[in-house]
Amino acid sequence: MGHHAEVTDHDVRVLDDSEYRTAHSLFRGTLHYTPAPDDQWKFARESYEPGRTFGAFADGELIGTVQSFPSRLAVPGGGVVPHAAVSRVGVRADWTRRGVLSALQRAQLRALRSAGDVAATLRASETAIYGRYGYGVATRYRFLRIDRRTAAPRTRPVGRVRLVEGEAGERVARGLFDELSPGRAGTIARWPAWWGLTVRRVAGEENLKIAVRYGTSGEADGYVMFKVAPGEHDSSDDKPTTLTVGDLWARDAEAWADLWLFVLGIDLVDRVAASGRPVDEPVEWLLGDRRACRVVEEVDETWLRLVDVPAALSARTYRSGEPVVIGVRDAYLPENAGAYRVTADGATRVDDDPELVLDVDVLASTYLGDVSFSTLAATRRLDVVDPTAPARADALFAVSEVPYSGTFF
Ligand SMILES: CC(C)(COP(=O)(O)OP(=O)(O)OC[C@H]1O[C@@H](n2cnc3c(N)ncnc32)[C@H](O)[C@@H]1OP(=O)(O)O)[C@@H](O)C(=O)NCCC(=O)NCCS
Repeated sequence: MGHHAEVTDHDVRVLDDSEYRTAHSLFRGTLHYTPAPDDQWKFARESYEPGRTFGAFADGELIGTVQSFPSRLAVPGGGVVPHAAVSRVGVRADWTRRGVLSALQRAQLRALRSAGDVAATLRASETAIYGRYGYGVATRYRFLRIDRRTAAPRTRPVGRVRLVEGEAGERVARGLFDELSPGRAGTIARWPAWWGLTVRRVAGEENLKIAVRYGTSGEADGYVMFKVAPGEHDSSDDKPTTLTVGDLWARDAEAWADLWLFVLGIDLVDRVAASGRPVDEPVEWLLGDRRACRVVEEVDETWLRLVDVPAALSARTYRSGEPVVIGVRDAYLPENAGAYRVTADGATRVDDDPELVLDVDVLASTYLGDVSFSTLAATRRLDVVDPTAPARADALFAVSEVPYSGTFF
């Protein structure tokens, strides 16, 4: 935990709608972008919902900001909890490393807890920032690159995949997405402005396409969003024509395979890239040459903060196994600190001595099932009091499907 001496020459408060554009420009500035022009701001504006944006001020000027989108998060066992998707975190370059983010985080975490959010998640620009505030890596994703010329898919689509243009495509995609997520542990609900910012704004600038898969009953049961960047065909190794899959959701394995076979079958494409896919997605098994599919990157996706630890531990289910008592430390929300007895039937707060002790960010990493307590013990990320405790916790927290979010924000 950081013990930065938080200076008191700045104040933090909730911003009102007359201040959102200034906050947006400040955030973009911290990522080295210029302020959004009017045609982009109209999409960003919708995503500022009342009471969810904080600003830090010094001498009457905005110097830092953080916000969140209202959402829900799926947890192991099929439960869904109130969740805030934290985003647009930035402190002006001339005010960094003076405790401004820490003050913003403190205010935001307190507000989320009061509002009844059980969890918060974010995507981290850098891995050194958020652990101190109780965020831990809870899901991973992979980035794929498929050489379409050698891929040689082994099967053919069994249903029909159609390109659906414009608003109709977005409508079908949204309907399917809202049915499928939150579903698998780690998936979240998207807020309405997500679609404007991610689909409509981009569709105006890039060649974004939506293809929908229809099963034998004629019902839509999956979709893929993708764009193609044309290369140079005389020198395709230097600048290949690349199709990038941005979002692909399907109701079942048959629809999933058809959507992949569709994108792999599009003519005049040298390479198919996919961003942010689940680590257990078996794309290579569809191919005649599995080496045509390379994992370019497998990195941290969800950074999870358990805002209300008792509620979070009660919301998920556990496998059968011997009970374990887990001690939790939480510097930013001390009401979470304490001992929790986890059994196959659930979790309760107790006064017992803990058998293993960890910081709340480390608990978050175990919560969706992505990493085991034994791994975290081996890497010295938790304190083992009883040497049999990590294995008992592993058995209780085990999940059958790797957690995954699939929504970038
Ligand atoms: C990341 C950012 C918001 C941090 O703001 P800040 O006001 O400088 O953070 P604080 O001063 O409150 O930092 C608190 C602690 O975190 C550390 N820290 C903060 N950002 C860090 C970073 N990027 N790398 C390493 N350490 C960092 C500080 O050194 C300090 O440590 P200490 O308590 O041990 O002294 C700011 O640097 C920024 O705007 N960066 C560019 C935009 C960005 O990356 N935003 C995140 C988008 S997800």
